[in-house]
Parts: sequence; C-alpha cells; structure tokens
Amino acid sequence: MITYGRQTIEKEDVDSVIDALKSDYLTTGPKIGEFESKLAEYVGAKYAVAVSNGTAALHLAMLALGLKQGDIGITTPLTFAASANCLRYVGAKVQFIDIEPETGLIKTEEIEKHITPQTKVLIPVHYAGQSCDMEQIFEIAKKHDVSVVEDAAHAIGSKYKGKKVGSCSFSDMTTFSFHPVKTITTAEGGAITTNSRELYEKLLLLRTHGIVQRPDKAPWFYEMQELGFNYRMPDVLAALGLTQLDRIDKFIDKRKKIISLYRQKLSSLSNLKLISEFDYNDSAFHLCPLLIDFESVKINKKDLFQKLKRKDISLQVHYIPVHLHPYYRKLGFKEGDYPNAEKFYSQEISLPIYPSLTLHDINFVIKTIKELVI
Ligand SMILES: Cc1ncc(COP(=O)(O)O)c(C=O)c1O
Repeated sequence: MITYGRQTIEKEDVDSVIDALKSDYLTTGPKIGEFESKLAEYVGAKYAVAVSNGTAALHLAMLALGLKQGDIGITTPLTFAASANCLRYVGAKVQFIDIEPETGLIKTEEIEKHITPQTKVLIPVHYAGQSCDMEQIFEIAKKHDVSVVEDAAHAIGSKYKGKKVGSCSFSDMTTFSFHPVKTITTAEGGAITTNSRELYEKLLLLRTHGIVQRPDKAPWFYEMQELGFNYRMPDVLAALGLTQLDRIDKFIDKRKKIISLYRQKLSSLSNLKLISEFDYNDSAFHLCPLLIDFESVKINKKDLFQKLKRKDISLQVHYIPVHLHPYYRKLGFKEGDYPNAEKFYSQEISLPIYPSLTLHDINFVIKTIKELVI
C-alpha cells in the first residue's frame, strides 16, 4: 500500500533503541538531554524540551505563557485539531483566521484586525512544511503585546528567510511533533524550542507534574509547586530521535526531489495544482498537497479516493477545517465562516511523500490520478 506519509526506520535506529532498552534508563535518562541539545543545535534555538507528543508541546506552551479562561488565541482553521485544542485545554477561546488559498497558510494581513485586549497568543501553523510570514506576524504581535507560538508540527528542517524553523527568531516558542508521518519520528513525541530561560524552566517544571527535587530539605524530598502533567518523552524514544536527527537532511533532500518530480509531471495540467511556495521559504515538505478543481474534472473526491484505494494508493486530506468539527460547531462555528479553508478542503488531496517512495511509485501514483481525473 502506498500511503501519504510513513516513517523511515533503518538499522541505526533499531540499534540505538536496543541500546537504550538495555541501559539503566527506559524513561527520563541521558538520551533525553542528548536529544534536546542536538535538536536545539539543529534548529538554532537556545533550549529544547522533549515531550510525549506535539499536542502536549502545544498544551505546555499555552501553560507556560499563563493562558487562562477569558483569554483568546488566534490560529488557522486549516490545521490538525490540536493547534486550536491547546487553547481550549486552558479555558481560552479560539479565534480562527482564514487562509491564503494558494498556500494554505494563515492570512497575515487579517491577523491585526482580529486582535482584541483579550488576545494573548498567535499560533501560526506552518502548513505542509512551509513557514508562515513570521517576521510580519512577530511585528504585529509585538505591537499588541501578544505572544507567538509557532506550530511547526509539519516543519522540522524547514527554513524561513535563511533561518531554521524552531530558532524562534520571530516567536516565543516553537512546537514540533515526531509522529511517524512527520519528517523525523520518535513514534509518539514532540518538543518545544525557545530562547527564553524563563519559559524553558517553566516548561521543564510543567512537563513533570510541576514537581521539583529538594535535596536541600532532605535526600528524598520533592515538592509540587504547580499543577503540571506527565508529558515526558521516554529515553528509548529519544534514542530513536537521535539517530533520526542524524539523517534529517538526507530525508529532506529526498522529500524535495519528490516534490520537484510531482511539479514537473503535473505542471501541464490546468485543473490540478500543487500549493505555491514563497521564495523566502525553503520548505522541508511534510506534505504534498494537490488541489484539484473537482468541478471541472470527471470524478468526485469520494470516488477518486475509493478508486485509488482499489489500486493500493491510500491518501489523506489535510484538513477538514477545525471549525467544522462537531465540538467547534457546538461552540458556535458554522459552515461559511472561513470560505477559503472550506474551499481548500474541498479541493485538497495529499500526495504520497516520504523518503522510501520510489520513482516507480511516484509514476504509478501520477499515472493513476491522471487516468481517473482527466
Ligand atoms: C499541525 C499539527 N499540530 C499539532 C499536531 C499534534 O501532534 P501529535 O500528533 O504529535 O500530538 C499535529 C499532528 O499531526 C499537527 O499536524
């Protein structure tokens, strides 16, 4: 089965995990610190905190900023639910802002119009791997004294204006996910990067129940200073993250080659187009979104998916706009609220993109889609 994304696990990953399994530590141990240092160095941030998944990373980021009931956070509807849910976890309200139809990224120029005294955080999502216009977003945030948390679940290894996403050059924190479909994986896993010592210390505290060791009081003594969580990443998974990080640039090169093949092969077709890229961006391409104008082709989206599945091509759609999920509808959102995101959803299918995809697979996917669509 050809899927839209999958992990690349090789001998060095297996060896690294086995070594960690045989060590004294299965959960927090030396691999966590090594992974955090390597990640911080890779993205060019001062600090990295490894956590259990990308959702936990977003939740901790909101907690570290002190978001609470009555506050408002701004994000995009074209994302995975977690980008908005993190606001709900802390009792804050979600203000969605529609997307640019060509890129799927939040409309930067709409952000300022929606900032109110209650707005406390902007959560731009680097959809498919391409960075939002962070310099501009950060400028708006500073003007209104609002924090910025980049949801970079798709964007490890991507660059914005020459700097790696995660360097937090234009944000307070950046969150990552290492789910198996992402560019590198730790099975489940995530991280937050920041350049702020204060936020870093808060994140460390909240990651582990809000508990600190107090050997100054007694050798066994610890105390819970804040209401935190168990959002730790196990050492065994950090060991996997370390060997994955060793090969991240190789993975990204392969992803870029796949994208340029798709671009070449699809460029002559007017009713099928790949998302556009800003020239100041260098995306690591977690996803390869293809927009199909279903009104002008011979098949609808449902039938296309079913027929592709019969050919062992199992694709996915990114995303059903978050405001259309029943939970968000119950909060008052409705169809028509964010027309660009809704149109994007109606047209989008995510083509397979992962390092072990072969040229034969790519040709087969393109040929099959062309036959079914045109
Ligand atoms: C944009 C975005 N944010 C957050 C997450 C949450 O990450 P995780 O699945 O690791 O909890 C995802 C996961 O797919 C995502 O795509």
